[in-house]
Amino acid sequence: MCLRYLILFPVAFVCCLLARICYLILVKRDEPRGESRPVKTMIILGSGGHTAEMLRVVKHLNLENYSPRVYIRAQTDKLSAEKVRDLEDGNEDYKVVEIYRSREVRQSYLTSIWTTVFATLNCLPILWRENPGLILCNEAWINNSITRVEACLDRTWEILNSGYWKDVPIGYRYCYSLCVAIKAILLELQYEINAESFNDKEEKKKTVLRNIINQIDKGILLGAPLPSVPNLLTTIATKLNSYCTEDSGAKINLEEILINYKEDSDLISNYPERHFERPSMQTFYNKIFVPKLPAILTDCMSHWKALTLWKNPNYLNKIAGSRTVPIEIGSSYTEEDWTQHLVNFSEFLQKHVIASNSEIGYLAQHQLFEQIPELKEDFEVPEYCCFSDSEEKDVESSEVDVNAWFGPAGTVSPLHFDPKNNLLSQIFGYKRVILYSPTETDNLYPYDTKLLNNTAQVDPVRPDYDKWPNFRKADSMTFYLKPGEMLYIPPKWWHHVTALTSSFSISFWWN
Ligand SMILES: *[C@@H]1O[C@H](CO)[C@@H](O)[C@H](O)[C@H]1NC(C)=O
Ligand SMILES: *[C@@H]1O[C@H](CO)[C@@H](O)[C@H](O)[C@H]1NC(C)=O
Ligand SMILES: *[C@@H]1O[C@H](CO)[C@@H](O)[C@H](O)[C@H]1NC(C)=O
Repeated sequence: MCLRYLILFPVAFVCCLLARICYLILVKRDEPRGESRPVKTMIILGSGGHTAEMLRVVKHLNLENYSPRVYIRAQTDKLSAEKVRDLEDGNEDYKVVEIYRSREVRQSYLTSIWTTVFATLNCLPILWRENPGLILCNEAWINNSITRVEACLDRTWEILNSGYWKDVPIGYRYCYSLCVAIKAILLELQYEINAESFNDKEEKKKTVLRNIINQIDKGILLGAPLPSVPNLLTTIATKLNSYCTEDSGAKINLEEILINYKEDSDLISNYPERHFERPSMQTFYNKIFVPKLPAILTDCMSHWKALTLWKNPNYLNKIAGSRTVPIEIGSSYTEEDWTQHLVNFSEFLQKHVIASNSEIGYLAQHQLFEQIPELKEDFEVPEYCCFSDSEEKDVESSEVDVNAWFGPAGTVSPLHFDPKNNLLSQIFGYKRVILYSPTETDNLYPYDTKLLNNTAQVDPVRPDYDKWPNFRKADSMTFYLKPGEMLYIPPKWWHHVTALTSSFSISFWWN
């Protein structure tokens, strides 16, 4: 009976603690966001080795952020108090609280039960009074907690990956983000405890931090922003990334080494009358948006910093190098050998963009700017996206879906259509886009399957007329998209896109 209570106490305590963490992260909204404030930290000392271990952690913390500090030591443990005094040396924002010892060395087992219960009860008012934001216990506790958080992540991952993504209750995605945040803190603490024993500390630290960034990116990709702290994961990842990615030293300009279309005079669209130089909002509306006709818009984005900055892989590497991104391997999504991988951005740059790899890798249709918001500062959502097709002005339809498309020469999006308006904006590099009006659908032979019914079986670049005879009748428009130009693709218009050089485009989709 007693034993059962003895076990129940710590369990109840851990539950309270977790509940408090959840409460702080999910519910408590009245605190100012953005600036970080110091957190009251409670440090549980033991004796001898354990105290040394905990003080090692404290030594590595930036004490300004962990203030005030409350050290808990057993009444009879005089040595620990001295060690704390040495470490804090002159600081004023700490205190040492004494508790009863649950068991002395060589105390009998039977009496240990009572002293433990007593000592545990003695802790509760202290916890209540001090109300710490963070409690540092010991390494085994950290390791065990990592195991538990991982179990929770695994289970949530299974739920998130069963059935349709859209049908998964949002709570599971919050849970995933929350567990990732907790795991990141635990991994950091685990590193700090062991830091002293590593030979190459700096390198080891980067490895640990890269692992944390990787976890956090999975949290961003699979989880959902927590309502009370929506920028939590992206902010942590940004800070860690800037610590981890040094300049690779290679001063390569993507435009110089990979773009051979200096003579872009031979890239002539077959509808020159569909080129508009910085059209006014009215011209865009009357000649492009309402008639739903494709058009090239020139000189609308010359002020975007992205046009000059993103050509330099060192710039992108610095901002995004350690971040995990999904890339598509294989020439196009209709091919057998097509797969998707998660790799870090630096590796993607090295293997697929700078070096010409036999495997084509394409960072395609990815909401990169939700994941790495710093990049948003280098461009803006075009004003043209404010025109709407629907009468009612509901919030849902006015949102613009922004995606990144970054890859080497030779990436292909097979002939397909999308349900929304699209402004495909070229940051650097050249793309060829072949378009067909929705009225040509029957000549393009869409796939029968539900999943691919917006994709054509014909390859307009290498058409097989025996197989698809009506394709001869299809009228196409060919446009060459150059750096700094946008292409308006109306909803339901079929388009086939080939990157002629290494290329970075942003698509803006809206209703
Ligand atoms: C905790 O985990 C780390 C990393 O896996 C390991 O090096 C360390 O020895 C573990 N410590 C304990 C007390 O289990
Ligand atoms: C990217 O991943 C590769 C291989 O997994 C690793 O060697 C490299 O250190 C990582 N780079 C960064 C900047 O995280
Ligand atoms: C394609 O499939 C969707 C459902 O996934 C359906 O709503 C749509 O009508 C289909 N379109 C065609 C052209 O068959």
